[in-house]
Amino acid sequence: MTVEKPVISGINIKSSQNRLLIKNGRVVNDDGMEDADVYIEDGIIKQVGRNLIIPGGTRTIDATGKLVMPGGIDPHTHFELEMMGAKTADDFYKGTRAAVAGGTTTIIDFVLPQKGQSLIEAYNNWRQKADNKVCCDYALHVGVTWWSASVKKEMEQLVSEQYGVNSFKMFMAYKDAWMLDDYELTCVMEACTELRALPMVHAENGHIIARNTERLLARGISGPEGHQLARDEEVEAEAVNRACVIANQADSPLYIVHMMSKSAVQALETARLRQKPPVYGETLAATVGTDGTHYRNACFRHAAAHVLSPPLRPDPDTPQAMVEALADDRLQLIGSDNCTFHEKDKEIGKDNFAKIPNGVNGVEDRMSILWQKGVNTGVMDPCRFVSVTSATAAKIFNLWPGKGRVTAGSDADIVVWDPTLQRTISAANHRHAVPFNIFEGQTVVGGPQYVIVNGRVCLDDGDLRVAEGSGRFLKTPVDSPYIFGGDAPSASPRPQHHSPKDSPIKISNGNGTPD
Ligand code: URP
Ligand code: ZN
Ligand code: ZN
Ligand code: ZN
Repeated sequence: MTVEKPVISGINIKSSQNRLLIKNGRVVNDDGMEDADVYIEDGIIKQVGRNLIIPGGTRTIDATGKLVMPGGIDPHTHFELEMMGAKTADDFYKGTRAAVAGGTTTIIDFVLPQKGQSLIEAYNNWRQKADNKVCCDYALHVGVTWWSASVKKEMEQLVSEQYGVNSFKMFMAYKDAWMLDDYELTCVMEACTELRALPMVHAENGHIIARNTERLLARGISGPEGHQLARDEEVEAEAVNRACVIANQADSPLYIVHMMSKSAVQALETARLRQKPPVYGETLAATVGTDGTHYRNACFRHAAAHVLSPPLRPDPDTPQAMVEALADDRLQLIGSDNCTFHEKDKEIGKDNFAKIPNGVNGVEDRMSILWQKGVNTGVMDPCRFVSVTSATAAKIFNLWPGKGRVTAGSDADIVVWDPTLQRTISAANHRHAVPFNIFEGQTVVGGPQYVIVNGRVCLDDGDLRVAEGSGRFLKTPVDSPYIFGGDAPSASPRPQHHSPKDSPIKISNGNGTPD
Protein backbone atom coordinates (compact mmCIF):
# COMPACT_ATOMS: atom_id res chain seq x y z
CA MET A 1 0.00 0.00 0.00
CA THR A 2 1.44 3.40 -0.93
CA VAL A 3 0.62 6.60 0.87
CA GLU A 4 1.45 10.22 0.37
CA LYS A 5 2.47 12.28 3.35
CA PRO A 6 1.69 15.91 2.61
CA VAL A 7 3.48 18.51 4.70
CA ILE A 8 1.29 21.30 6.01
CA SER A 9 2.85 24.55 7.32
CA GLY A 10 6.25 22.94 7.51
CA ILE A 11 5.09 20.35 10.04
CA ASN A 12 4.64 16.82 8.90
CA ILE A 13 1.33 16.28 10.64
CA LYS A 14 1.00 12.84 9.11
CA SER A 15 3.49 11.10 11.35
CA SER A 16 2.67 10.43 14.97
CA GLN A 17 5.03 11.79 17.58
CA ASN A 18 3.59 9.41 20.09
CA ARG A 19 4.72 6.14 21.49
CA LEU A 20 1.81 4.24 22.82
CA LEU A 21 1.29 1.02 24.73
CA ILE A 22 -2.13 -0.61 24.88
CA LYS A 23 -1.88 -2.93 27.84
CA ASN A 24 -3.89 -5.87 29.21
CA GLY A 25 -6.41 -6.06 26.39
CA ARG A 26 -7.61 -8.94 24.27
CA VAL A 27 -6.39 -8.52 20.68
CA VAL A 28 -9.01 -9.61 18.16
CA ASN A 29 -8.17 -10.32 14.54
CA ASP A 30 -10.34 -12.01 11.94
CA ASP A 31 -8.57 -15.34 12.52
CA GLY A 32 -8.25 -15.43 16.29
CA MET A 33 -7.95 -13.70 19.65
CA GLU A 34 -5.10 -13.48 22.13
CA ASP A 35 -4.44 -11.64 25.37
CA ALA A 36 -1.61 -9.34 24.35
CA ASP A 37 -0.19 -5.84 24.68
CA VAL A 38 0.28 -3.67 21.63
CA TYR A 39 3.18 -1.26 21.28
CA ILE A 40 2.98 1.54 18.72
CA GLU A 41 5.67 3.90 17.50
CA ASP A 42 5.49 6.53 14.74
CA GLY A 43 2.08 5.38 13.60
CA ILE A 44 3.06 1.74 13.17
CA ILE A 45 2.37 -1.29 15.37
CA LYS A 46 5.83 -2.41 16.43
CA GLN A 47 5.13 -5.30 18.79
CA VAL A 48 2.21 -7.45 19.87
CA GLY A 49 2.70 -9.79 22.81
CA ARG A 50 3.33 -10.07 26.52
CA ASN A 51 6.23 -8.70 28.59
CA LEU A 52 7.26 -6.24 25.90
CA ILE A 53 10.27 -4.02 26.52
CA ILE A 54 9.01 -0.46 26.15
CA PRO A 55 10.98 2.82 26.15
CA GLY A 56 10.36 5.20 29.07
CA GLY A 57 7.94 8.05 28.53
CA THR A 58 5.53 5.91 26.56
CA ARG A 59 1.85 6.64 27.15
CA THR A 60 -0.02 3.57 28.42
CA ILE A 61 -3.69 2.87 27.82
CA ASP A 62 -5.09 0.24 30.15
CA ALA A 63 -7.34 -2.05 28.11
CA THR A 64 -8.27 -4.47 30.87
CA GLY A 65 -11.63 -6.04 29.97
CA LYS A 66 -11.52 -4.41 26.51
CA LEU A 67 -11.04 -5.75 23.01
CA VAL A 68 -8.25 -4.38 20.86
CA MET A 69 -9.36 -4.60 17.24
CA PRO A 70 -8.28 -3.22 13.88
CA GLY A 71 -10.06 0.07 13.22
CA GLY A 72 -13.11 -0.29 11.03
CA ILE A 73 -12.88 0.08 7.27
CA ASP A 74 -16.06 1.45 5.76
CA PRO A 75 -15.94 0.43 2.09
CA HIS A 76 -18.87 2.64 1.07
CA THR A 77 -19.31 6.35 1.79
CA HIS A 78 -20.50 9.39 -0.13
CA PHE A 79 -19.08 12.61 1.27
CA GLU A 80 -19.62 15.86 -0.66
CA LEU A 81 -21.49 14.06 -3.39
CA GLU A 82 -23.84 15.97 -5.65
CA MET A 83 -26.78 13.86 -6.72
CA MET A 84 -30.46 14.36 -7.53
CA GLY A 85 -30.14 18.15 -7.31
CA ALA A 86 -28.54 18.23 -3.88
CA LYS A 87 -25.20 17.86 -2.13
CA THR A 88 -24.59 15.51 0.78
CA ALA A 89 -24.43 17.23 4.15
CA ASP A 90 -21.48 15.31 5.59
CA ASP A 91 -18.32 16.61 3.96
CA PHE A 92 -14.96 14.86 4.18
CA TYR A 93 -14.22 16.52 7.52
CA LYS A 94 -17.52 15.89 9.28
CA GLY A 95 -17.93 12.50 7.66
CA THR A 96 -14.52 11.14 8.62
CA ARG A 97 -14.86 12.73 12.07
CA ALA A 98 -18.10 10.80 12.54
CA ALA A 99 -16.36 7.68 11.24
CA VAL A 100 -13.56 7.96 13.79
CA ALA A 101 -16.02 8.64 16.61
CA GLY A 102 -17.63 5.29 15.83
CA GLY A 103 -14.42 3.27 15.54
CA THR A 104 -13.83 3.47 11.78
CA THR A 105 -10.31 4.50 10.77
CA THR A 106 -10.42 4.13 6.97
CA ILE A 107 -13.18 4.99 4.54
CA ILE A 108 -13.49 4.32 0.83
CA ASP A 109 -15.53 6.93 -1.02
CA PHE A 110 -16.93 6.91 -4.55
CA VAL A 111 -15.82 9.31 -7.28
CA LEU A 112 -19.00 9.61 -9.35
CA PRO A 113 -18.52 11.40 -12.68
CA GLN A 114 -21.47 12.79 -14.59
CA LYS A 115 -22.23 11.06 -17.88
CA GLY A 116 -19.74 12.39 -20.41
CA GLN A 117 -17.34 13.72 -17.76
CA SER A 118 -13.71 12.64 -17.72
CA LEU A 119 -13.10 10.06 -14.99
CA ILE A 120 -9.70 11.56 -14.26
CA GLU A 121 -11.17 15.03 -13.92
CA ALA A 122 -13.75 13.68 -11.47
CA TYR A 123 -11.03 11.82 -9.57
CA ASN A 124 -8.98 15.01 -9.28
CA ASN A 125 -12.05 16.88 -8.00
CA TRP A 126 -12.55 14.26 -5.32
CA ARG A 127 -8.91 14.39 -4.25
CA GLN A 128 -9.17 18.16 -4.03
CA LYS A 129 -12.30 17.95 -1.88
CA ALA A 130 -10.93 15.27 0.42
CA ASP A 131 -7.17 15.56 0.88
CA ASN A 132 -7.13 18.51 3.26
CA LYS A 133 -10.25 17.56 5.17
CA VAL A 134 -10.05 13.87 6.01
CA CYS A 135 -9.43 12.93 9.64
CA CYS A 136 -8.56 9.34 8.77
CA ASP A 137 -7.06 7.55 5.80
CA TYR A 138 -9.18 7.12 2.73
CA ALA A 139 -9.18 5.48 -0.69
CA LEU A 140 -11.39 5.93 -3.74
CA HIS A 141 -13.54 3.77 -5.98
CA VAL A 142 -14.36 5.38 -9.33
CA GLY A 143 -17.80 5.19 -10.91
CA VAL A 144 -18.11 4.30 -14.58
CA THR A 145 -21.31 6.10 -15.51
CA TRP A 146 -20.87 6.08 -19.28
CA TRP A 147 -18.85 4.08 -21.74
CA SER A 148 -16.51 4.90 -24.61
CA ALA A 149 -12.97 4.20 -25.79
CA SER A 150 -11.81 7.22 -23.82
CA VAL A 151 -13.40 5.86 -20.63
CA LYS A 152 -11.50 2.61 -21.11
CA LYS A 153 -8.24 4.58 -21.53
CA GLU A 154 -8.96 6.50 -18.36
CA MET A 155 -9.61 3.27 -16.46
CA GLU A 156 -6.16 2.12 -17.58
CA GLN A 157 -4.66 5.35 -16.27
CA LEU A 158 -6.58 5.23 -12.99
CA VAL A 159 -5.20 1.82 -12.05
CA SER A 160 -1.63 3.06 -12.50
CA GLU A 161 0.64 3.95 -9.59
CA GLN A 162 -0.08 7.63 -10.23
CA TYR A 163 -3.77 7.35 -9.27
CA GLY A 164 -4.02 4.13 -7.27
CA VAL A 165 -7.59 3.00 -8.01
CA ASN A 166 -8.48 -0.70 -8.13
CA SER A 167 -12.29 -0.68 -8.14
CA PHE A 168 -14.93 0.68 -10.50
CA LYS A 169 -18.62 1.07 -9.66
CA MET A 170 -21.46 0.72 -12.14
CA PHE A 171 -25.14 1.43 -11.73
CA MET A 172 -27.93 -0.80 -12.99
CA ALA A 173 -30.41 1.78 -11.65
CA TYR A 174 -30.76 5.59 -11.80
CA LYS A 175 -32.08 5.48 -15.38
CA ASP A 176 -31.27 8.62 -17.39
CA ALA A 177 -28.50 9.47 -14.91
CA TRP A 178 -25.79 6.93 -14.08
CA MET A 179 -27.34 3.70 -15.37
CA LEU A 180 -25.44 1.52 -17.85
CA ASP A 181 -27.04 -1.06 -20.11
CA ASP A 182 -25.99 -4.70 -20.17
CA TYR A 183 -23.65 -4.20 -23.13
CA GLU A 184 -21.87 -1.38 -21.31
CA LEU A 185 -21.75 -3.36 -18.07
CA THR A 186 -20.13 -6.21 -19.98
CA CYS A 187 -17.54 -3.89 -21.53
CA VAL A 188 -16.60 -2.38 -18.17
CA MET A 189 -16.33 -5.79 -16.54
CA GLU A 190 -14.15 -7.03 -19.40
CA ALA A 191 -11.92 -4.00 -18.92
CA CYS A 192 -11.69 -4.84 -15.21
CA THR A 193 -10.68 -8.42 -16.07
CA GLU A 194 -7.89 -7.07 -18.27
CA LEU A 195 -6.73 -4.62 -15.63
CA ARG A 196 -7.09 -7.04 -12.70
CA ALA A 197 -9.41 -4.50 -11.11
CA LEU A 198 -12.65 -5.12 -9.25
CA PRO A 199 -16.01 -4.15 -10.74
CA MET A 200 -18.72 -3.13 -8.28
CA VAL A 201 -22.41 -2.83 -9.05
CA HIS A 202 -25.48 -1.16 -7.68
CA ALA A 203 -27.89 -3.98 -8.50
CA GLU A 204 -31.49 -2.94 -9.20
CA ASN A 205 -33.42 -3.08 -12.46
CA GLY A 206 -33.60 0.60 -13.44
CA HIS A 207 -36.07 0.09 -16.29
CA ILE A 208 -38.62 -1.68 -14.08
CA ILE A 209 -38.20 0.99 -11.39
CA ALA A 210 -38.81 3.75 -13.95
CA ARG A 211 -42.01 2.12 -15.21
CA ASN A 212 -43.25 1.31 -11.68
CA THR A 213 -42.63 4.92 -10.70
CA GLU A 214 -44.73 6.21 -13.61
CA ARG A 215 -47.55 3.85 -12.66
CA LEU A 216 -47.48 4.74 -8.96
CA LEU A 217 -47.44 8.48 -9.63
CA ALA A 218 -50.34 8.10 -12.05
CA ARG A 219 -52.29 6.39 -9.25
CA GLY A 220 -51.59 9.33 -6.97
CA ILE A 221 -48.96 7.60 -4.84
CA SER A 222 -46.35 10.33 -4.53
CA GLY A 223 -45.11 9.97 -0.92
CA PRO A 224 -41.95 8.17 0.31
CA GLU A 225 -43.81 4.84 0.52
CA GLY A 226 -43.81 4.91 -3.29
CA HIS A 227 -40.02 4.65 -3.24
CA GLN A 228 -40.29 1.20 -1.71
CA LEU A 229 -43.31 0.14 -3.78
CA ALA A 230 -41.41 0.89 -6.98
CA ARG A 231 -38.48 -1.29 -5.99
CA ASP A 232 -39.62 -4.73 -4.84
CA GLU A 233 -37.12 -7.29 -3.61
CA GLU A 234 -37.28 -9.18 -6.90
CA VAL A 235 -36.26 -6.01 -8.74
CA GLU A 236 -33.06 -6.14 -6.70
CA ALA A 237 -32.61 -9.92 -6.93
CA GLU A 238 -33.02 -9.94 -10.72
CA ALA A 239 -30.25 -7.38 -11.06
CA VAL A 240 -27.98 -9.28 -8.67
CA ASN A 241 -28.38 -12.40 -10.79
CA ARG A 242 -27.87 -10.48 -14.04
CA ALA A 243 -24.75 -8.72 -12.71
CA CYS A 244 -23.32 -12.09 -11.67
CA VAL A 245 -24.02 -13.61 -15.08
CA ILE A 246 -22.37 -10.66 -16.81
CA ALA A 247 -19.34 -10.94 -14.53
CA ASN A 248 -19.12 -14.65 -15.22
CA GLN A 249 -19.27 -14.04 -18.97
CA ALA A 250 -16.56 -11.39 -18.64
CA ASP A 251 -14.50 -13.78 -16.48
CA SER A 252 -14.47 -11.10 -13.85
CA PRO A 253 -14.80 -11.00 -10.08
CA LEU A 254 -17.63 -8.85 -8.78
CA TYR A 255 -18.54 -6.84 -5.69
CA ILE A 256 -22.21 -6.07 -5.15
CA VAL A 257 -22.73 -2.97 -3.03
CA HIS A 258 -25.54 -2.32 -0.56
CA MET A 259 -27.45 -5.60 -0.71
CA MET A 260 -30.74 -4.97 1.02
CA SER A 261 -32.97 -8.04 0.78
CA LYS A 262 -33.20 -11.73 1.48
CA SER A 263 -33.98 -12.42 -2.20
CA ALA A 264 -30.85 -10.58 -3.27
CA VAL A 265 -28.72 -12.59 -0.84
CA GLN A 266 -30.24 -15.78 -2.21
CA ALA A 267 -29.32 -14.78 -5.77
CA LEU A 268 -25.79 -14.01 -4.62
CA GLU A 269 -25.49 -17.34 -2.83
CA THR A 270 -26.36 -19.23 -6.02
CA ALA A 271 -23.83 -17.22 -8.01
CA ARG A 272 -21.09 -17.72 -5.43
CA LEU A 273 -21.53 -21.47 -5.79
CA ARG A 274 -21.35 -21.49 -9.57
CA GLN A 275 -18.74 -18.82 -10.37
CA LYS A 276 -14.98 -19.04 -10.30
CA PRO A 277 -13.80 -15.47 -10.16
CA PRO A 278 -15.26 -14.64 -6.76
CA VAL A 279 -18.39 -12.61 -6.13
CA TYR A 280 -18.70 -10.59 -2.92
CA GLY A 281 -21.72 -9.04 -1.24
CA GLU A 282 -21.84 -5.98 0.97
CA THR A 283 -24.80 -5.04 3.14
CA LEU A 284 -25.38 -1.90 5.16
CA ALA A 285 -25.74 -0.79 8.75
CA ALA A 286 -29.10 0.65 7.65
CA THR A 287 -30.62 -2.69 6.74
CA VAL A 288 -29.21 -4.43 9.80
CA GLY A 289 -30.29 -1.64 12.14
CA THR A 290 -33.70 -0.52 10.92
CA ASP A 291 -36.46 -1.44 8.46
CA GLY A 292 -38.84 -0.24 5.79
CA THR A 293 -41.83 0.38 8.03
CA HIS A 294 -40.57 3.97 8.34
CA TYR A 295 -41.65 4.78 4.77
CA ARG A 296 -45.25 4.73 6.04
CA ASN A 297 -44.57 7.26 8.79
CA ALA A 298 -47.07 10.12 8.51
CA CYS A 299 -44.27 12.65 8.81
CA PHE A 300 -42.63 13.33 5.42
CA ARG A 301 -39.38 14.38 7.05
CA HIS A 302 -39.17 11.11 8.95
CA ALA A 303 -40.08 8.87 6.02
CA ALA A 304 -37.90 10.72 3.51
CA ALA A 305 -34.89 10.50 5.83
CA HIS A 306 -35.02 6.71 5.34
CA VAL A 307 -35.07 6.87 1.53
CA LEU A 308 -32.09 5.12 0.03
CA SER A 309 -31.68 2.68 -2.85
CA PRO A 310 -32.23 -0.21 -2.79
CA PRO A 311 -34.84 0.60 -0.14
CA LEU A 312 -35.24 -0.77 3.35
CA ARG A 313 -37.58 -3.74 3.26
CA PRO A 314 -40.99 -3.97 4.95
CA ASP A 315 -40.35 -7.63 5.86
CA PRO A 316 -39.59 -7.55 9.62
CA ASP A 317 -37.23 -10.55 9.36
CA THR A 318 -34.83 -8.85 6.97
CA PRO A 319 -32.49 -7.19 9.52
CA GLN A 320 -31.89 -10.45 11.40
CA ALA A 321 -31.52 -12.39 8.13
CA MET A 322 -28.84 -9.97 6.95
CA VAL A 323 -26.90 -10.37 10.22
CA GLU A 324 -27.08 -14.15 9.82
CA ALA A 325 -25.87 -13.88 6.23
CA LEU A 326 -22.92 -11.78 7.42
CA ALA A 327 -22.16 -14.34 10.12
CA ASP A 328 -22.13 -17.39 7.83
CA ASP A 329 -20.33 -15.77 4.88
CA ARG A 330 -23.30 -15.50 2.52
CA LEU A 331 -22.42 -11.79 2.82
CA GLN A 332 -18.83 -10.69 3.27
CA LEU A 333 -18.87 -7.07 4.43
CA ILE A 334 -20.91 -4.31 5.97
CA GLY A 335 -20.61 -0.70 4.85
CA SER A 336 -22.61 2.40 5.65
CA ASP A 337 -23.37 3.99 2.25
CA ASN A 338 -23.32 7.17 4.35
CA CYS A 339 -25.02 9.74 2.14
CA THR A 340 -26.80 12.28 4.31
CA PHE A 341 -28.96 15.11 2.99
CA HIS A 342 -30.37 18.14 4.75
CA GLU A 343 -34.13 18.20 5.26
CA LYS A 344 -34.55 21.01 2.75
CA ASP A 345 -32.93 18.79 0.14
CA LYS A 346 -35.11 15.78 0.95
CA GLU A 347 -38.04 18.22 0.44
CA ILE A 348 -37.18 18.32 -3.28
CA GLY A 349 -39.25 15.14 -3.43
CA LYS A 350 -42.19 16.39 -1.36
CA ASP A 351 -44.65 15.79 -4.21
CA ASN A 352 -42.79 13.05 -6.01
CA PHE A 353 -40.92 10.29 -4.16
CA ALA A 354 -38.68 9.70 -7.19
CA LYS A 355 -37.09 13.12 -6.57
CA ILE A 356 -36.15 12.56 -2.91
CA PRO A 357 -32.35 12.52 -2.81
CA ASN A 358 -31.32 8.98 -1.92
CA GLY A 359 -29.23 8.37 1.16
CA VAL A 360 -28.99 7.84 4.91
CA ASN A 361 -26.48 8.12 7.75
CA GLY A 362 -24.45 5.17 9.04
CA VAL A 363 -20.71 5.83 9.09
CA GLU A 364 -20.71 6.68 12.81
CA ASP A 365 -23.01 3.90 14.04
CA ARG A 366 -22.08 1.05 11.67
CA MET A 367 -19.78 -0.71 14.16
CA SER A 368 -22.03 -0.34 17.22
CA ILE A 369 -25.15 -1.36 15.33
CA LEU A 370 -23.55 -4.57 14.08
CA TRP A 371 -22.02 -5.32 17.48
CA GLN A 372 -25.45 -4.94 19.06
CA LYS A 373 -27.36 -6.95 16.45
CA GLY A 374 -24.66 -9.50 15.70
CA VAL A 375 -22.30 -10.06 18.63
CA ASN A 376 -24.56 -9.26 21.59
CA THR A 377 -27.17 -11.64 20.20
CA GLY A 378 -24.62 -14.43 19.77
CA VAL A 379 -25.05 -14.63 15.99
CA MET A 380 -21.41 -13.81 15.30
CA ASP A 381 -18.22 -13.84 17.35
CA PRO A 382 -15.82 -10.90 17.64
CA CYS A 383 -13.48 -12.41 15.00
CA ARG A 384 -16.25 -12.47 12.41
CA PHE A 385 -17.16 -8.94 13.48
CA VAL A 386 -13.58 -7.87 12.65
CA SER A 387 -13.77 -9.73 9.36
CA VAL A 388 -16.94 -8.03 8.10
CA THR A 389 -16.22 -4.55 9.47
CA SER A 390 -12.53 -4.32 8.59
CA ALA A 391 -10.31 -7.23 7.53
CA THR A 392 -12.22 -8.40 4.45
CA ALA A 393 -12.42 -4.87 3.04
CA ALA A 394 -8.65 -4.55 3.54
CA LYS A 395 -8.11 -7.83 1.68
CA ILE A 396 -10.50 -7.15 -1.19
CA PHE A 397 -9.24 -3.61 -1.81
CA ASN A 398 -5.61 -4.65 -1.41
CA LEU A 399 -4.84 -2.70 1.75
CA TRP A 400 -4.02 -5.84 3.72
CA PRO A 401 -2.20 -6.32 6.05
CA GLY A 402 -1.26 -2.64 6.47
CA LYS A 403 -4.92 -2.12 7.28
CA GLY A 404 -7.43 -4.51 8.83
CA ARG A 405 -5.07 -6.32 11.18
CA VAL A 406 -3.48 -5.80 14.57
CA THR A 407 0.00 -7.18 14.01
CA ALA A 408 3.59 -5.94 14.03
CA GLY A 409 4.21 -3.85 10.91
CA SER A 410 0.61 -2.79 10.34
CA ASP A 411 -0.64 0.78 10.53
CA ALA A 412 -1.63 1.73 14.06
CA ASP A 413 -5.33 2.03 13.26
CA ILE A 414 -6.87 0.49 16.32
CA VAL A 415 -10.10 0.58 18.24
CA VAL A 416 -10.14 -0.26 21.93
CA TRP A 417 -13.65 -1.61 22.21
CA ASP A 418 -15.53 -1.59 25.49
CA PRO A 419 -18.13 -4.35 25.30
CA THR A 420 -20.01 -2.83 28.26
CA LEU A 421 -20.25 0.75 26.99
CA GLN A 422 -23.93 1.67 26.71
CA ARG A 423 -25.23 4.45 24.50
CA THR A 424 -28.56 5.52 23.11
CA ILE A 425 -28.16 6.66 19.52
CA SER A 426 -29.54 10.13 18.90
CA ALA A 427 -29.21 12.99 16.46
CA ALA A 428 -28.92 15.17 19.56
CA ASN A 429 -25.32 14.06 20.04
CA HIS A 430 -24.21 12.31 16.85
CA ARG A 431 -21.47 13.86 14.70
CA HIS A 432 -23.33 14.02 11.40
CA ALA A 433 -24.24 17.31 9.79
CA VAL A 434 -27.96 16.48 9.78
CA PRO A 435 -30.49 16.63 12.63
CA PHE A 436 -31.82 13.13 11.93
CA ASN A 437 -30.52 9.65 12.66
CA ILE A 438 -32.20 6.54 11.25
CA PHE A 439 -31.20 4.62 14.40
CA GLU A 440 -32.68 7.24 16.75
CA GLY A 441 -33.53 5.92 20.20
CA GLN A 442 -31.82 2.55 19.84
CA THR A 443 -29.66 1.52 22.77
CA VAL A 444 -26.44 -0.23 21.87
CA VAL A 445 -24.11 -1.96 24.29
CA GLY A 446 -20.49 -2.03 23.11
CA GLY A 447 -18.55 0.81 21.55
CA PRO A 448 -15.19 2.46 21.13
CA GLN A 449 -13.46 3.85 24.19
CA TYR A 450 -10.25 4.74 22.34
CA VAL A 451 -9.75 5.11 18.61
CA ILE A 452 -6.19 5.34 17.35
CA VAL A 453 -5.62 6.61 13.84
CA ASN A 454 -2.11 6.17 12.49
CA GLY A 455 -0.80 6.15 16.05
CA ARG A 456 -2.68 9.28 17.14
CA VAL A 457 -5.30 8.88 19.87
CA CYS A 458 -8.30 10.50 18.22
CA LEU A 459 -10.98 9.20 20.55
CA ASP A 460 -9.49 9.43 24.00
CA ASP A 461 -11.65 7.75 26.62
CA GLY A 462 -14.69 9.05 24.77
CA ASP A 463 -13.20 12.48 24.03
CA LEU A 464 -13.07 13.13 20.25
CA ARG A 465 -9.91 14.94 19.11
CA VAL A 466 -9.43 14.62 15.39
CA ALA A 467 -7.14 16.73 13.21
CA GLU A 468 -8.61 18.01 9.96
CA GLY A 469 -6.47 16.95 7.02
CA SER A 470 -4.42 14.44 9.02
CA GLY A 471 -5.68 11.45 7.03
CA ARG A 472 -3.80 10.17 4.00
CA PHE A 473 -4.92 9.07 0.58
CA LEU A 474 -4.31 5.36 0.18
CA LYS A 475 -3.39 4.09 -3.24
CA THR A 476 -4.97 0.71 -3.80
CA PRO A 477 -2.98 -1.42 -6.25
CA VAL A 478 -4.81 -3.74 -8.63
CA ASP A 479 -4.40 -7.51 -8.64
CA SER A 480 -5.41 -8.06 -5.04
CA PRO A 481 -4.01 -11.49 -4.10
CA TYR A 482 -7.17 -12.09 -2.06
CA ILE A 483 -9.31 -11.85 -5.20
CA PHE A 484 -7.02 -13.11 -7.90
CA GLY A 485 -4.95 -15.51 -5.82
CA GLY A 486 -1.83 -14.60 -7.77
CA ASP A 487 -3.04 -16.72 -10.70
CA ALA A 488 -2.96 -15.60 -14.29
CA PRO A 489 -6.43 -14.78 -15.64
CA SER A 490 -8.14 -17.81 -17.08
CA ALA A 491 -7.47 -18.22 -20.78
CA SER A 492 -10.20 -16.77 -22.92
CA PRO A 493 -11.16 -18.75 -26.02
CA ARG A 494 -9.29 -17.84 -29.18
CA PRO A 495 -10.91 -17.58 -32.59
CA GLN A 496 -11.58 -20.91 -34.19
CA HIS A 497 -10.57 -21.29 -37.85
CA HIS A 498 -13.36 -22.81 -39.88
CA SER A 499 -12.45 -24.80 -42.96
CA PRO A 500 -13.96 -23.86 -46.31
CA LYS A 501 -17.09 -25.91 -47.01
CA ASP A 502 -15.56 -28.53 -49.28
CA SER A 503 -12.14 -28.92 -47.66
CA PRO A 504 -11.33 -32.03 -45.60
CA ILE A 505 -12.65 -31.78 -42.03
CA LYS A 506 -10.01 -31.00 -39.45
CA ILE A 507 -10.56 -31.37 -35.73
CA SER A 508 -9.74 -28.24 -33.81
CA ASN A 509 -8.20 -28.36 -30.35
CA GLY A 510 -9.74 -24.97 -29.55
CA ASN A 511 -6.42 -23.19 -29.90
CA GLY A 512 -7.02 -22.19 -33.47
CA THR A 513 -4.49 -24.76 -34.64
CA PRO A 514 -5.47 -28.15 -36.01
CA ASP A 515 -4.60 -31.29 -34.05
O1 URP B 1 -29.42 5.55 -1.81
C1 URP B 1 -28.22 5.48 -1.95
N1 URP B 1 -27.67 4.29 -1.89
N2 URP B 1 -27.50 6.61 -2.14
C2 URP B 1 -26.17 6.71 -2.49
C3 URP B 1 -25.90 6.42 -3.93
C4 URP B 1 -25.80 4.95 -4.17
O2 URP B 1 -26.57 4.42 -4.94
O3 URP B 1 -24.93 4.31 -3.60
ZN1 ZN C 1 -25.64 2.55 -5.19
ZN1 ZN D 1 -41.45 13.93 12.02
ZN1 ZN E 1 -23.66 4.31 -2.26
